[in-house]
Amino acid sequence: MNVYDSQQIISQLTPLGYELSESLDAADLIIVNTCAIREKAEQKAFSFFGRLAVLKRKKPGLIICVGGCVAQQEGRKILERFSYIDLVFGTHALKRLPEHILNISTKRRRISDVEMDNEILEFPSAGSPITNGGATGFVTIMRGCDNYCTYCVVPHVRGPEMSRKPDNIINEIRGLVDTGMQEVTLLGQNVNSYGTKEGLCSFPKLLKLVSEIDGLYRVRFTTSHPKDLSEELIFAFRDLEKLCNHIHLPVQSGSNNILKRMNRKYTRELYLEKIDKLRKISPDMAITSDVIVGFPGETEDDFKATIDLVKEVEFDSLFTFQYSDRIKAPAAKFSDKITDDIKNIRLRELLEIQEYYTKKKHRALIGSNELILVDGFSKKQDVGSGQEEFEGIYWSGRTSTNKVVNFTFGNSFHEDDISIGKIIDVKIEKALLHSLLGKPVKTKPKPFEAQKEETHAA
Ligand code: 5AD
Ligand code: SF4
Repeated sequence: MNVYDSQQIISQLTPLGYELSESLDAADLIIVNTCAIREKAEQKAFSFFGRLAVLKRKKPGLIICVGGCVAQQEGRKILERFSYIDLVFGTHALKRLPEHILNISTKRRRISDVEMDNEILEFPSAGSPITNGGATGFVTIMRGCDNYCTYCVVPHVRGPEMSRKPDNIINEIRGLVDTGMQEVTLLGQNVNSYGTKEGLCSFPKLLKLVSEIDGLYRVRFTTSHPKDLSEELIFAFRDLEKLCNHIHLPVQSGSNNILKRMNRKYTRELYLEKIDKLRKISPDMAITSDVIVGFPGETEDDFKATIDLVKEVEFDSLFTFQYSDRIKAPAAKFSDKITDDIKNIRLRELLEIQEYYTKKKHRALIGSNELILVDGFSKKQDVGSGQEEFEGIYWSGRTSTNKVVNFTFGNSFHEDDISIGKIIDVKIEKALLHSLLGKPVKTKPKPFEAQKEETHAA
């Protein structure tokens, strides 16, 4: 989401004559786009602000701006604490960014703008798509959240849920496809409830409209709330050929007691039922999730219930977090806080168990041919605990199930056959913890690809 917001910022500032700078030292304008979701992210932002003082001393004309969730949350306090920061702009103030920058550069004012608006969201850049020219891209379809999970700051810093109109979304994606994008990820805090409030089309209907865009090869989305995962969406995985075979479905905890205190509005049983339905529709669907350990009041039994759920589902991968207080979120005031030591122990146990399943899923792919969309190059991999690293530059892409596949050339493949945006079959030879390694193989194009090549040639 923040990547998309950063792209929006860039597109807002291009008409003012700004270009991306290679380094902080060379920049005339620095914009820090912040995230407040967890304590660590927020601390990172504050320590980065500290580093900017020296740059301002060296170049007094430098303009420094802070945007995003920390800006929304802290507002003017940031200006008071950091005398060299010129602008604090909240999550709804993006459209006023150019105006503020002009005011700062001409009148040397210091501004805080954290006003929120109630209009249906539209982005300043809709219709003039922003792209890095790559094979994959992101498009935000809604902003804010109405779910008020008790640990979460998002509803407080991003405001109520608002959905963009389907036409604007489709036009933006079409524009991106024209620049070479082949895979789009639709973004929102809870995409399943897209359009409900505004009476727009349902999310599965939007997926259908997106998948009808010519030249687009794949569609993904994130994030889904389990309580809103409808039958219609589950069937979309069966019916929409371009919809990738992966869902990120954050469970947060396997204990009904904790789920209730988190205000998640589903039970462990309901979650497992939805997983069953998804796997009935698509047995090899990749399922990933988020889990928080150490939520206030989490007992050993609650934690065990989470471990049991993780073992039962066998997620493809898991994002794991230690609970941290967020001042605006209600759980910050809950009693029975869990100590850091216990949170650490629980996190380590969870990670170890998940590592087993991630490796198991990866190993099961050795020897198979996986269709991947080439999206760039991979750096040397840090594969963690006891897994070897590989050296050199590899091409990289993802499977429909969102697994990273890195590869070098096989004997039958020529370098000219591969470029970013190509869809190729790769034979998986090795399973690492965070990626797979393989060699491209020549296979007959599938009917859809053949048709796609024709469209592109025309
Ligand atoms: N503490 C720890 N993890 C959190 N998340 C959100 N808020 C908190 C918090 N206060 C995690 C949730 C969410 C993910 C994006 O971040 O797991 O799904
Ligand atoms: Fe936060 Fe819950 Fe909304 Fe996700 S659904 S953004 S966790 S409040």
